[in-house]
Amino acid sequence: MIQIKNITKRYKNITALDDVSLEIKSGEFFGLLGPNGAGKSTLMSLLSGYLDADEGTITFKDSIISRDSMKVRKKFGLAPQSLALYEDISAEANLKIFGSMYLMNKDILKAAIEEKLYTAGLFERKKDIVKTFSGGMKRRLNLVAALLHSPKVLLCDEPTVGVDPQSRNAIFDYLQKINKEENITVIYTTHYMEEAERLCKRIAIIDMGKIIAQGTKDELLNLLPYKEEIFIGKNEKTKSVLDSLGKFGEIIEHAEQYEVKLQGDFKLSDVFKLFEDSGIGYSNIDFRKPTLEELFLNLTGRRLRD
Ligand SMILES: Nc1ncnc2c1ncn2[C@@H]1O[C@H](COP(=O)(O)OP(=O)(O)OP(=O)(O)O)[C@@H](O)[C@H]1O
Ligand SMILES: [Mg+2]
Repeated sequence: MIQIKNITKRYKNITALDDVSLEIKSGEFFGLLGPNGAGKSTLMSLLSGYLDADEGTITFKDSIISRDSMKVRKKFGLAPQSLALYEDISAEANLKIFGSMYLMNKDILKAAIEEKLYTAGLFERKKDIVKTFSGGMKRRLNLVAALLHSPKVLLCDEPTVGVDPQSRNAIFDYLQKINKEENITVIYTTHYMEEAERLCKRIAIIDMGKIIAQGTKDELLNLLPYKEEIFIGKNEKTKSVLDSLGKFGEIIEHAEQYEVKLQGDFKLSDVFKLFEDSGIGYSNIDFRKPTLEELFLNLTGRRLRD
């Protein structure tokens, strides 16, 4: 439904996006995962038609998105990374302003405000000035503002930054609800791999303006040369088996643990046997599946978050 083809975007001498191509399907919950400065917000600005690309095209159902294409741009709602709200007026008054920007009919706008505030769990607070809202409530209001004109696609740019875990869950619930029940395609940017893994069916990993991998979480993790890893507490006993453990994969020494990235042709029971034969108890051992954070590290040599 959305085709991003060979997009390059420069700001003077900075190339924010470098030949990016992606396809996003109708109804998808799509994640864009990447560290600070990767180009996520730039791509959101291009998708919403707020900025034009230097090279390449973005189409929505075969119509080209550009600054001048108001008809297509209306299919998108952008909830920007930096909150776009007036702090000194009520939630309702904010939404009236946003609605008028889309030239919405007064009665339709009124009904939309009520309904969307209700879904976002903010109906009771509609008369309160935004300044009195928590960070999470402001984020939800920011999302409602992006949804007033009933877009087909919601562009959510880091909607959980600065939000406590409980409010974060409320945001996730809200987004999943509108994605499932209202069939709104969601494009979600984040630098938290936990969020991308939890929410998004497909994920593109972006770094320094380039898409470095994309797919479902499982497809992405399959790109790693190892499928499991073990963390072992450091002590005299575990130190003594390091040589033997080496044949099961690469060993990395951390401050209090050894990390073994299991790789090669052997059975897991061989690993267990080694621990048993050496008298190492299982309370010392932690088996883990790798995460997207490790994939990022593996692909770039850097961490998602510094
Ligand atoms: N208006 C601008 N003028 C000049 N450079 C910009 C502008 N906006 C972004 N950039 C640069 O473009 C690159 C990509 O920025 P962008 O904001 O798209 O990244 P991001 O992935 O959203 O980062 P963050 O996670 O910090 O929000 C960065 O190097 C940034 O400094
Ligand atoms: Mg950003």
